[in-house]
Amino acid sequence: MTVLTATNLTKVYGGQKGAVPVKALDGFQLQVEEGEFVGIMGPSGSGKTTLLQLVGTIDKPTSGEVIIRNQKLSRLTGDGLALFRRRQLGFIFQDFNLLDALTLKENIILPLVLEGMPLATIEDRVYTVATQLGLRSELNRYPAEVSGGQKQRAAAARALIHQPALVLADEPTGNLDSRSAQSLMEALSSLNETQSTTILTVTHDPVSASYCRRILFIKDGRLFNEIRRGTDRGHFFHQILDVLATMGGESYDLAYARR
Ligand SMILES: Nc1ncnc2c1ncn2[C@@H]1O[C@H](COP(=O)(O)OP(=O)(O)OP(=O)(O)O)[C@@H](O)[C@H]1O
Ligand SMILES: [Mg+2]
Repeated sequence: MTVLTATNLTKVYGGQKGAVPVKALDGFQLQVEEGEFVGIMGPSGSGKTTLLQLVGTIDKPTSGEVIIRNQKLSRLTGDGLALFRRRQLGFIFQDFNLLDALTLKENIILPLVLEGMPLATIEDRVYTVATQLGLRSELNRYPAEVSGGQKQRAAAARALIHQPALVLADEPTGNLDSRSAQSLMEALSSLNETQSTTILTVTHDPVSASYCRRILFIKDGRLFNEIRRGTDRGHFFHQILDVLATMGGESYDLAYARR
């Protein structure tokens, strides 16, 4: 089943009061099937975050359409849009976005509490997802009391607990050391394989990207290339480096070096 279809997606920012308009996405097409784990790579400013914002209902395209599970996003407004976002989508951000005053468990269950789900179901779900993400013994700690990697795995648990149609992640490993980054990507990869969770993630890091099953490369708001992983992650990693090298390495290297 197709989870996401984006057709002819164009986003132009600015252009008011004499400012020069920026075309962040230019006729971008994308289709994601249920159970896919798709990575988005490309130089800084190529339109990756813009794409995630349009798919995530955070912003609207200038033209084109996004369809998630047969729902045209352009048909949704106000409460309907908020409800759709809350039920069908899960978000993981670079800076975790956890509430400091709540324990990891309270952070994770927040989407279910908002839905008014029965307590017994919530308890059940939180232990399942915490086990999958290796967080069982940290659940009663506060964000300030755990590592960056644990914070991000808690954020991933929060994004997954309501079993959304699509999980969107914008550089989820951007603030993690390489070991924590790998452990997050391993957890996401395993959830993708065992639960068929559909994931779309932006990443600058070729190692993180090698956990995905398919990578789309964006340049200047357009699809530049697309590759699929076979069984060998090491081989995929080298394929990713090869495509990045053909993309005009300079802007890519600058973006990567900032991190
Ligand atoms: N709110 C905005 N207003 C005006 N221009 C914007 C806005 N958001 C993004 N842009 C511009 O749109 C283009 C694409 O930005 P976007 O944030 O999607 O890039 P990105 O691929 O996520 O880059 P990075 O790797 O640095 O995060 C850039 O030229 C950026 O400056
Ligand atoms: Mg970005």
